Amino acid sequence: MDMDISCTCGKDCIESSAKVMKSLNIHYLPCKNCDTDDLEKFRPLNEQVELNDINDRWKSCPCGRRHLDHVMAHILMIMMEEKLRDGNSTLRQVGTPLLTIGCPLKGPPYLLKDSMVLLTDHINKKCSLRVYEEVPEVKGVLKGDMRVTVGVKDSESLPNTYQLMAGCDLRCDILETPSGQIYIYKNQGQIHLEFPKPLNPKITALYKTFNKYQNPSILDCTCGPGTLGIFALKAGARKVVFNDIWYPAAEMTAINLEVNGFPVNFLKQEPGLIAEGENFQVYCADIRDLKSFLDEKFDIGVIDPFPGVDFTELSHSVREMCHEVIIIQ
Ligand SMILES: C[S@@+](CC[C@H](N)C(=O)[O-])C[C@H]1O[C@@H](n2cnc3c(N)ncnc32)[C@H](O)[C@@H]1O
Ligand SMILES: [Zn+2]
Ligand SMILES: [Zn+2]
Repeated sequence: MDMDISCTCGKDCIESSAKVMKSLNIHYLPCKNCDTDDLEKFRPLNEQVELNDINDRWKSCPCGRRHLDHVMAHILMIMMEEKLRDGNSTLRQVGTPLLTIGCPLKGPPYLLKDSMVLLTDHINKKCSLRVYEEVPEVKGVLKGDMRVTVGVKDSESLPNTYQLMAGCDLRCDILETPSGQIYIYKNQGQIHLEFPKPLNPKITALYKTFNKYQNPSILDCTCGPGTLGIFALKAGARKVVFNDIWYPAAEMTAINLEVNGFPVNFLKQEPGLIAEGENFQVYCADIRDLKSFLDEKFDIGVIDPFPGVDFTELSHSVREMCHEVIIIQ
């Protein structure tokens, strides 16, 4: 079966961000006509501007962009009208803007249409729909607490998800790696947040070990959306086996493989081997069970648990399958 990489929302979320990637260096920059006034995030908005003027003041510039602070102020106004925030609220109380494309920023970003997913813990359906319909930059609204990690923490935990209130929550991070850029898509209601840094420490850790071998084989035991294994393939790994206990993560890995130029055969939508390609396989399984269906020996095993989760115990079986294991802390 060929991999279908269209977005579940029915729109061209993957196609349209592919276009953005080509012009990433100018993507978030203002033009000479953009309104560049910053707002203070922790000071009540009503102390900084006349709220009645907002709609006139912060229309998008003819270039199609708007300062992130002005987008957040627009959302706050809707939240105030819906009585979900009071008149003294600050931009900080709106929620967290998850930009798509996500990349390290040098200054305040100027957003185009459909370029952020709003994550907020205090919103209802009506207000979410208004934000989605009235604020062009918002492509989706998620309800959830950003301090709660989305996904499956460990073998014993039930999954956490954020609730999609309106629109679509698929977004993309671009990571600079020693083997060029990689593109990591995530349905952010189901895949944990990770903010792109100029130098990804996990990739740096893997690369150090990777370079001790020639075209090593890699077992990415807790692959999430696939970042480390996809980097390894780009860096010339001879084989990568991806695995995650959380099906949405394993599925996202398969999509990200295809997006990054590694053609994927999608096999089935249930635990076990879910997808494969020329020199990789994607499994959805508990790390503790890997040994029962993988009988090969890998050069490097990578275990990247969520912060605070101790995988020392679980790593024993992986150690038997690999020459060397990196546990990313
Ligand atoms: C920090 S994330 C991995 C991120 C990934 N390496 C990346 O860079 O994109 C941790 C992952 O471990 C997975 N996980 C948790 N317990 C697991 C288990 N028992 N077996 C396999 N995967 C597990 C979670 O579902 C989550 O995707
Ligand atoms: Zn979508
Ligand atoms: Zn402009």
